[in-house]
Amino acid sequence: MSTDAIVLLKEDHKEIRRLFREFQGAGENATAQKRKLVAQILEALTVHTYLENECMYPEVRRLLPDLEDDVLESYEEHHVADVLCFELAAMAPDDERYDAKVTVLMENVLHHVEEEEQEWFPKVRDGLGRNQLQEIGARMIEMRADAPRTPSEPLALKKALDAVTA
Ligand SMILES: [Fe+2]
Ligand SMILES: [Fe+2]
Repeated sequence: MSTDAIVLLKEDHKEIRRLFREFQGAGENATAQKRKLVAQILEALTVHTYLENECMYPEVRRLLPDLEDDVLESYEEHHVADVLCFELAAMAPDDERYDAKVTVLMENVLHHVEEEEQEWFPKVRDGLGRNQLQEIGARMIEMRADAPRTPSEPLALKKALDAVTA
């Protein structure tokens, strides 16, 4: 199995896209199914965001200072998604704003994921060697075991708090 950081992050993106498609395919009144899918979406996003925030982004920022502006923009995009995830975690599928909020979350995340895959990952791969990407990936695999899994866990909130208190 590859431990290449970009390969691992793309696998997460693929799973996130799959969950989004399932939500879009769920019927308007399939509240139990929607509740379950949103729980899975929030978990996948919380884990993925944590690994990027705490490992991939700081490592790239340190090793490739030219990409700092991209990293800072990504932190802000994560922050917007964090807010929506946090709100959704406290909502029920029969709330009139539920589907709208999930839709806005999906639009935001898809835009961000496209930018990472089309523009950012190629720059990172050009700038870092195979070995560095494998080391970062190996660390992310270790960190995944203790990563927060719901948006309200302290570790998941850390970056959001940093953003408002900095
Ligand atoms: Fe990201
Ligand atoms: Fe990502």
